[in-house]
Amino acid sequence: MNKNILITGGAGYIGSHIIEVLIRNKKKIFIADNLSTGHKRLINKKAKFHKVDILKSKKIRDIIIKNKIDSVIHLAANLIIGEGEKYPKKYFKNNVLGTKNLLKACINTTIKNFVFSSSAAVYKDGQYKVHENSAIKPKSVYGKTKIKAEKIIKQFCKRNKINYCILRYFNIAGSSPSGKIGLINKSDHLFKNFSREIIKKRPILKIYGDNYNTKDGSCIRDFIHVSDIAEIHYKVLEKINKSNVSKILNCGYNKGVSVFEVANSFKKQSRKKVEIMVSEKRKGDLAKIIASNNKLQKFIKWKPKFNNLNTIVKSCINWEKRQ
Ligand SMILES: NC(=O)c1ccc[n+]([C@@H]2O[C@H](COP(=O)([O-])OP(=O)(O)OC[C@H]3O[C@@H](n4cnc5c(N)ncnc54)[C@H](O)[C@@H]3O)[C@@H](O)[C@H]2O)c1
Repeated sequence: MNKNILITGGAGYIGSHIIEVLIRNKKKIFIADNLSTGHKRLINKKAKFHKVDILKSKKIRDIIIKNKIDSVIHLAANLIIGEGEKYPKKYFKNNVLGTKNLLKACINTTIKNFVFSSSAAVYKDGQYKVHENSAIKPKSVYGKTKIKAEKIIKQFCKRNKINYCILRYFNIAGSSPSGKIGLINKSDHLFKNFSREIIKKRPILKIYGDNYNTKDGSCIRDFIHVSDIAEIHYKVLEKINKSNVSKILNCGYNKGVSVFEVANSFKKQSRKKVEIMVSEKRKGDLAKIIASNNKLQKFIKWKPKFNNLNTIVKSCINWEKRQ
C-alpha cells in the first residue's frame, strides 16, 4: 500500500516539487490537473498526467479504480487572496465543491490515505505563534474555503475509514536544487517579485509598510522552503499509512523572518545597486504569524534541510535567471 499516488494540482508549483521527491522514493504518480494555473513544463516525465478537473467526479473515479490508487494528495485549488475576495463564488466552487467531488470519487475504492494542502490563512488574526489548536477565524474568502474543505475531509475520512493528514502550510518559497522546477505564476508572491526585480538592471524591492509593531517595522512571516514541504508530504504519507492515524499539522520552521530581512538577503546576493522602497501598508496583511511545529517534528521526526533564508533566496534567484 501507499505506492500508487494521485496528486491533484500536480502540474503546479508545490505539486511538482512533491512529485520530484515521491518519484525519487519509487512511488508511482498519477496527476489530475486542469492546467488552469499549472504548467506543462512542470509535469514530471515519469508521472502519468491526466488533464482533468477535480469537479468531474466520474472521471477522477475512473483514474482511481483503473490505477488502484491508494493515496491522494489534494493540492488543486485557487489560492490568490485578492482574487478570492473579488470572485468568492469561483473560490467556493473550486476549493470546496471541488474537494467534495474529489472525495465522492474515493468512496468504496482502494483509497486508504488522503493528504490535504491547507493554509495558515485559516487562523484568527492577531495571534503570533499559532499551534494547531489556536483560534480559527479566516479573514479571507480563500481561508474560509480551506477551513470548510478541512471539515468536509475530516468528516468524510472518519466515515469511510480513510487516514487523513491536513497540512497547514505557512509561507512557501524557493525552488528545487534540481533547477528544473520553480514558481512560474505571476502571483503576489514576495520572493517571486523580489527575484524578478533582482535580475533587472536597476532593482527596486518594494516593501508594504514599515510601521508594524515588529522588530524592524515590516511584517514577519514563517517562510519554508518548498523542498522541505515536499519531503514532509512523503514522510507524512508513509507515517499515516503505517500507523493508521490522522492528523492536522502546521508546516513551518517556527521561525519569524521579517520582510526587510528578506529584502536584505536579496540585496546581499546581488552585485547591483539595489533600492529598497517602502510603500503603504496593504489592507488585510497580518503583522506577524509563525508556526508552532512541535506536532510535525514529533510525528515524523522532522529535520528541515533548507531552513536558511540565504539558501531560499539563492534558489529563487537561480530559478528566475533560467526563465
Ligand atoms: N503557495 C503557497 O505559498 C501556499 C500556501 C498555503 C497553501 N497552499 C496550497 O497549496 C496548494 C498548491 O498551491 P501552489 O502554490 O502549488 O499553486 P499552483 O497554482 O501552482 O497549483 C495549483 C494547481 O491546481 C490546479 N487546479 C486548480 N483548480 C483545479 C481543478 N478544479 N481541477 C484540477 N486542477 C486544478 C492548477 O492548474 C495548478 O496546477 C493549493 O491548495 C494552495 O491553497 C499554497
